[in-house]
Amino acid sequence: MSQNDLFSGGDSSNELPSDSAAENIQSLRNHINEHNHKYYVLDEPSIPDAEYDRLMRELQALEDANPELITSDSPTQRVGGAPLAGFTEVQHERPMLSLDNAMNADEFAAFYQRVQDRLKTDEPLEFACEPKLDGLAISLLYVNGVLERAATRGDGQTGEDVTQNVRTIKNVPLRLQGNQTPTRIEIRGEVYMPKAGFDAYNDRARENEEKVFANPRNAAAGSLRQLDSRITAKRPLEFCAYSLGIVSDDFDMPDTHSAQLAQVQVWGVRINEEMRVVNGLEEAQTFFTQLGEKRHQLGYEIDGTVFKINSLTLQDELGFVARAPRWAIAYKFPAVEELTVLQDVDFQVGRTGALTPVARLKPVHVAGVTVSNATLHNMDEIARLGVKIGDTVIVRRAGDVIPQVVAVVEERRPDDARDILVPELCPECGSHVERLLLSTSNAKNASFAAKHICVGRLMCPAQIKQGVAHFASRAAMDIEGLGPGIIDKLYDAGYLKDLSSLFDLTVEDCLALPKFKQKSAEKLINSIEKSRINASYDAFIFGLGIPNIGRENAKIIASLGDLAEISKYHHKTFRFFSGLGEEVVNTLLEFVKDDHNQKVLLRLKFYVNFNSKINPGNYSLVSFEKFLDVINFQKIGAKKIQALKEIIHSEDAVGIKDFILDGGWIESDIKNINEHYRLAFQNTKKIDEMLQVDKDLKKLGIHWTQKKELVGANLPLSGQTWVVTGTLSGQSRLDAQKLVEQYGGKISSTVSKKATHLLAGEKAGSKLKKAQDLNLTIVNESEFDEIILSCKS
Ligand code: IVH
Repeated sequence: MSQNDLFSGGDSSNELPSDSAAENIQSLRNHINEHNHKYYVLDEPSIPDAEYDRLMRELQALEDANPELITSDSPTQRVGGAPLAGFTEVQHERPMLSLDNAMNADEFAAFYQRVQDRLKTDEPLEFACEPKLDGLAISLLYVNGVLERAATRGDGQTGEDVTQNVRTIKNVPLRLQGNQTPTRIEIRGEVYMPKAGFDAYNDRARENEEKVFANPRNAAAGSLRQLDSRITAKRPLEFCAYSLGIVSDDFDMPDTHSAQLAQVQVWGVRINEEMRVVNGLEEAQTFFTQLGEKRHQLGYEIDGTVFKINSLTLQDELGFVARAPRWAIAYKFPAVEELTVLQDVDFQVGRTGALTPVARLKPVHVAGVTVSNATLHNMDEIARLGVKIGDTVIVRRAGDVIPQVVAVVEERRPDDARDILVPELCPECGSHVERLLLSTSNAKNASFAAKHICVGRLMCPAQIKQGVAHFASRAAMDIEGLGPGIIDKLYDAGYLKDLSSLFDLTVEDCLALPKFKQKSAEKLINSIEKSRINASYDAFIFGLGIPNIGRENAKIIASLGDLAEISKYHHKTFRFFSGLGEEVVNTLLEFVKDDHNQKVLLRLKFYVNFNSKINPGNYSLVSFEKFLDVINFQKIGAKKIQALKEIIHSEDAVGIKDFILDGGWIESDIKNINEHYRLAFQNTKKIDEMLQVDKDLKKLGIHWTQKKELVGANLPLSGQTWVVTGTLSGQSRLDAQKLVEQYGGKISSTVSKKATHLLAGEKAGSKLKKAQDLNLTIVNESEFDEIILSCKS
């Protein structure tokens, strides 16, 4: 069955006889496993994520309908199961060894010599060389090709059973590929968290005030030791094989380490792509040096190179001492973590005025670079670390990442260690520093993140300079040639008072700056002028640098009209526009209501005339229920809300219903209710709030209806659900689906009563028939193209 067939036919799982369901399930699993392998092992995704998700959903649906067909190696079984009470012990049939270290070239040469001596040879030694991954050793036991058990190394003899957790790691095959596998084979390797996943995880943890991991190794270990595998499933872990444990003798394994790993790779298990075979000391040393240079470009942390004698016969001959083999060594890179002293903390002011504490460190060499500064993120991080000035700290520098203080060595705290205090005045402009409490959860268990902000805003040099750079950036006003160097010069010469002063600049002003030539001056003034004319309103809003407002939010805000008008809206009015969260709205309103900002905005408006560009969204109707939901009359209680709804909709409520139906909900009528039911609701504040929001929404062109349509449902295909099937000639199915979504429609992979339209390409199969049965609107590709064309106009 081809991939196309998977989409166009063979769905409608529920009605399939189970042997055909079994075939479909198997075929889907094979496809998914194949894509998994391409994506997670070979790093060569062959289909878009959305299509992969669809395959998974299709499989899930089939398995839901046929639970008796679920097997433990199905790709759906990676999601994690019920929490365990504890881990059970696993006795390793063959001990999991560790490695001796070589810390420099001499120690490595000594190791090389020892091996030659033992083997009584002068011939160059052949090594398999691999990166030493910085994670956690794991043993995977496959029985008849199916993953049966995963265990940690533990003390080398006894580990812990972490099968449930390891099953959630996407690149661990639940079944080995191919039919020829030993009855029992134990594949060993490292579980680790790639750098990108680690950084993203920690960023999120910091935002949510959760525990951050000091390094990717801790992150991998912490994630694997979760009793609840559903937590592990959410962590971005990967596995890479580097050796074998027991192998049953019904399979002829190759007799070199490199060839064995190549075989493991054939079974669909990831091995390290940097693995090479080298000959002799010199080649080995070169491999080490080159890998060291490449180290920071790799997507995962490594802390050295592992050299293993490639011949298994020679490995046996060499044997091992204590817990480490004589035939292998970990030749380590310089450490990425070092100890040093925190001498002081400075506070840097960012674009939004936030003060960031920066550690001034006693200079220390970390992974080849002298480090004297490290970020401390914010005061919460300082509290979390419990760090004081004078403390000895562990500094970590991984690649080109900004060095971080990861821990304090408390035993070394001197008596005169000082607390780190936020300055009362901004170090850049002398304005007051305010402590902002950002609520991070609901009122019941409120928790706050402290952020310190310089109130100097647009008179603070740090904020102005960075603000101008942001305003000029490509995603905002796109002013070519206005980089930080020129901004500094302009600021120092007194030309940048606020964002609007950019538009006062003349060629002569620029020529007065040091090292500024006529040509570049003209170019800069030209690009400022160009931006004034070309920039869209949402790019402008984004450029203002309002905290929390990125490109997407800027678009929504732009569709609400002029900022001066927006500043007058009630904060609850914004809840009708999905995407604008509470915090975003708070910062937006705070920004536009600020006196100083209002002045700057007024000046900017003079230069950048957006009136012609403001293109308020054409919002549709909203039901009164939705209105009440959004306004959230928590304080008057559910019963009263219900009563209110009933009153509003009852015939005897002095014809109000008609007004609702007409979209003619007018203020005096609400006031009427207000008068009538003041006693019942006893909450005039709420009613006033309602009046205000009602007024705002009217300005935005939103009216009431009894139809439960949501705001924003104004796109041409809103309310429609499309299924795309068959072979299309002018576009891929994915492109067609994207178009539907772009114009407000929804996409479904199966034909059901919920669907409204079917785009049927060539050879549309069972879906077409089902759509006919269900009386859906069925269009061919050229009709579809016409529909899309009309959406565009
Ligand atoms: S081989 C007998 N290869 O290093 C060989 N180990 O210090 C045993 N490690 O527990 C291990 N990358 O967690 C080997 N390419 C690699 C490795 C590697 C990382 C870890 C492993 C082991 C520790 C030993």
